Amino acid sequence: MTTSITAEQSQREQALVDLVVRSFDTCEDERLKFLMQSLVKHLHAYLREVRLTESEWERAIEFLTQAGHITDDRRQEFILLSDVLGLSMQTIAINNEAFANATEATVFGPFFVEGSPEVPIGGDIAFGATGQACWVEGTVTDTNGTPVPGARIEVWEADEDGFYDVQYDDDRTSARAHLFADADGRYSFWAITPTPYPIPHDGPVGQMLEAVGRSPWRASHLHFMVTAPEMRRLVTHIFVSGDEIGWKDSVFGVKESLIKDFELQSAGTPTPDGRALEGDWTRVQFDIVLAPEGA
Ligand code: BEZ
Ligand code: FE
Repeated sequence: MTTSITAEQSQREQALVDLVVRSFDTCEDERLKFLMQSLVKHLHAYLREVRLTESEWERAIEFLTQAGHITDDRRQEFILLSDVLGLSMQTIAINNEAFANATEATVFGPFFVEGSPEVPIGGDIAFGATGQACWVEGTVTDTNGTPVPGARIEVWEADEDGFYDVQYDDDRTSARAHLFADADGRYSFWAITPTPYPIPHDGPVGQMLEAVGRSPWRASHLHFMVTAPEMRRLVTHIFVSGDEIGWKDSVFGVKESLIKDFELQSAGTPTPDGRALEGDWTRVQFDIVLAPEGA
């Protein structure tokens, strides 16, 4: 959609942009000045390109006001907005530059909690969360293939009903834990096979997704955060190959390299640690490669 405007109109609009940009000239913090001047240029360019109407401007203000009202210590609608616009993933891409074969990062999400319980290698992170049992194993190495012993691995996920423990109001801790890679950089644990779930969509972001015909569902995933001295912190997930949501992930978190086969094991198949299980279970391998700090 293009609207033609007269040279006089264009000049008036540009004069305003220039005036606002110059208003930041006195800023002594060079980075802040750059951020603000560039923001003003891009926002004005957007308004001028779409020829924003006054009622659209009012609707946008109303949207942001609603986002503010629903945001509290537990609910962050602005991060959700950043997520569904792909801004979170773009920020992650900019700040986790591709480095050799280092594992790709993806969105952090709102459900990480400090102070998760520690489990030993081979332990169970479910702590009562419902879902199909899943054996997860792999290694943590640097980009030369050298093991990273003692790497701290935080994992968290939703239960089979699509809820994280913090979404229940009974203070439970489940489907989250941390463990440490062994002397050879190896790790393993029991989790539950990830299933799809929607991002919180009972607020303005959900209304916006509905208005544009987009789904709030996230592709099935298991969250990881891996840290080790002198290594770049890795925040990522693994995704289930063949998942019904897959690339339609509402926050654009899916990366080809993070899609893994969760191999279905029929009931009665011996488990790696001799654990007795009643039903089907799955197993997945995820070898984690950390970039050096500062890469
Ligand atoms: C999550 O994976 O937990 C998540 C990520 C972004 C927005 C909402 C949830
Ligand atoms: Fe998640």
